[in-house]
Formats: sequence, structure tokens, C-alpha cells
Amino acid sequence: MGELSVLAGRSIVLGVSGGIAAYKSVELLRLLSSQDARVRVAMTKNAARFVGPVLFEALSGQPVYMDMWRENHEIRHIDWAREADLVILAPATANLVGKMACGLADDALSTLLLAVTAPILVCPSMNTHMFENPRVQDNLKRLSDTGLHVMAPGSGFLACGDTGPGRLPDPADIADRAAALLCEKDLSGLKVLVTAGPTREPLDPVRFLSNPSSGKMGFALARAAEHRGAEVVLVSGPVQLADPLGVKVVRVTTAREMADAVFAEAKDADMVLKAAAVSDFRPKTCAAHKEKKNKADTNLRLARNPDILKELGKEKSDKVLVGFAAETRKLAAYASSKLEEKNLDMIVANLVGEAGSGFGSDTNKVSVFYRDGYSEDLDLMTKDQVAHAVLDRAARYLPQAE
Ligand code: CTP
Repeated sequence: MGELSVLAGRSIVLGVSGGIAAYKSVELLRLLSSQDARVRVAMTKNAARFVGPVLFEALSGQPVYMDMWRENHEIRHIDWAREADLVILAPATANLVGKMACGLADDALSTLLLAVTAPILVCPSMNTHMFENPRVQDNLKRLSDTGLHVMAPGSGFLACGDTGPGRLPDPADIADRAAALLCEKDLSGLKVLVTAGPTREPLDPVRFLSNPSSGKMGFALARAAEHRGAEVVLVSGPVQLADPLGVKVVRVTTAREMADAVFAEAKDADMVLKAAAVSDFRPKTCAAHKEKKNKADTNLRLARNPDILKELGKEKSDKVLVGFAAETRKLAAYASSKLEEKNLDMIVANLVGEAGSGFGSDTNKVSVFYRDGYSEDLDLMTKDQVAHAVLDRAARYLPQAE
């Protein structure tokens, strides 16, 4: 499957301590393994009261480290610490946080942690009052101050009946921060503007013209650019996706709103990736009230929307401009003419209806056309992998890359 994910082949130690959320670390392990990370689990004896080591062993395909005194386990804390590219503590209980803050080592996991030189991602999970306790806050601050990466816990209804902060962050968000920590920061210092999703052009308060764009490709691009260290602004039409972490998200509805947001943010952007499926037309008028079928005009009168990317192309200077095109036929011809007409550096095109590709799918098979007339067909990949492949190629057009 084409490009490797950021986590592929990386050695991750998942440290599990004894909190209710220990069951969620099973899902985290699955997520990391599905991106081909090599995950090994070190857990406390209390964690094993919630989830048995056998489950972690079966899912990771690796032995679990829990008992320093078991035969042949004596120096596992040193070997695993040395080999780790990243350590994730999920859940990190108040006790584990406190022990780390004081440099204590009285079991397998805490001993291993003292020997780690790789980044450590701490994902606290505990009762709200425990989390808000000044001593715990002090300890968390001490961890941050000494270079550990502490995630904010989620907020909501907790297993103990209290409501507030203390929930283990969503496993998908933890995996996302893991990828961010392991990703090379080749776009740091740059501003990347991404657009995503469809636009909606209202006919009346309850109806609109639109298209089935899910926004997944644009959101994957925004995530990947943020992982690579860029300052990222994502202008998105209406989609069912959560804001990517660390990204400024501007939600819009119509093409004209998207144009305003893009023109404002593009001024100081180094790279613009226009993955949005913008409606080229809008109804000439939008009725103030719901149109009634007996009275509605059966002819729809349309007005043209601005071509946002074409406008950016007119004042391109050394901004890298990347277009996207979903076509149903003549992929190369249509993509190449858009590339030229909009003055782009490259355009990423896919055929709608091809297996594993297009609207709503988690994978995509794209061809990339470049301004010098060269083109290449990429393998079928996840949209996250396509995003990195696109950024690799777009980065070649940055002025500092020439
Ligand atoms: N685009 C844009 N503003 C528009 C229409 C398109 O910025 N009003 C951008 C899209 O975000 C995409 C690229 O232009 O990056 C190509 O979009 P596409 O809809 O494929 O092309 P169009 O120029 O609209 O051509 P057509 O609809 O005739 O295929």
C-alpha cells in the first residue's frame, strides 16, 4: 500500500496503569498496531485488575512487562527503554504521575520510565477532584516542565459519577498525538491553508445545492501538515468531522463564505491545498421561507460562484498552490487544463467511482499532475497516507526547496 504511515515500524511502549480507563488502552493498542507500529505493553499490577495481560499479549503479539522479578525479565526495563521511539502512558493515574514527578521507581513500569530517553506522552485519567487536586496539578506541571508531553484529559461524565475533566483522551486523539510526536517537522515555520468538504448553496431555509464530499481528504491534509510542524488553517464546508488537534478550523457554509475565509487566510500562507468541492453555482435567489410545491417555479435560475483557486492563481507569487479534481472521465485532460487555467504547481486528481476511491471513502487512488507536464499515478492508500504523499510533493515547490 504505497507510502508508509508515520507510525510504521516505530517502537512504542504503551504503559498502562490501574484506572478504569485501562480498557480503552486496548483500543489504543489496536489503533497503533493498525498503523504498523511495533507496540509493547508495560503495565502495573493494579492495571491487571482491570484488564489482564493476556489480552494485551494477544493483541500486541509481544510479551507484556509487569513483573521485574520474573525470570529473564531483569533488564527488560533497560532494553525496552533503549529501543523505544515513544512511550505512551494511557491511562496515567494520579499515582503514576506522582511517582514520575518524584523520580520514583518501585515496579516494572515506573523503573522503565526512568530509563527512557525517547518522548513520553502522558494521558491522565482520574476522578475530577483528583485531577484538580493541587498536588496532582503540581506533579503534572512538573512533568511538562521537564519535557514530557501531557495531554489534557477529556471532560464529561466519569465512571465514578462525577462530571468534569479527568476522562482519558479519546484513543484516536492519543494516536494522533503519537504520530505528531514521531513525525519529522519539515514544514515548521510555514503556514499551510487547507480547504475541505462541500459548500452548500441555499434555495430556501430548508433546501440547498451541494455534493457528497465528506471532507476526509482535506482533514487528512490538515492533520498531516500539523504533524509536520506547520501552522495550519483549515477552512471547511459542512462535514461530520471533528476539528483536527492543533489546527485553526474555520467552518463555512457557502462558496462565497469559503472565498472570504480563504482570501483572508491566504495572504501570508506559504502553501494552499484546495481539497474542497466548491459548488460552481448558487441559486440566483434564496427564498425567505420554505418554497411551497404548488407555487414553486420549476426553473432553477443560477448565478456563478467565484472560482477561489483561480483567483489565488492570479496572485500566486511563490505561494505553493495545489488543486484537487474529482472527475468521471478524461482524468488527465481535465486535470491538466485546470492546472494550467488556475496557475497551479500541481493538481491531485481521482476518478470518481473507482474502487476504494472518492467521496466518503477512507482510501484514495490519485494521480498527480505537475506544472512541468510530468505526472504520476500513486498507489491506492489511506487518505492519511495520500496526504503525506501530497505534502512531500508540494514541499518541493517551496522557495527554500529550490
Ligand atoms: N475550486 C475553487 N472554486 C470553485 C471551484 C473549484 O477553488 N468555484 C477549486 C477546487 O477546490 C479544486 C479545483 O478548483 O481544488 C478544481 O475543482 P473542480 O470542481 O474539479 O473544477 P472546476 O474548476 O469547478 O471545473 P468543473 O466543475 O468544470 O470540472
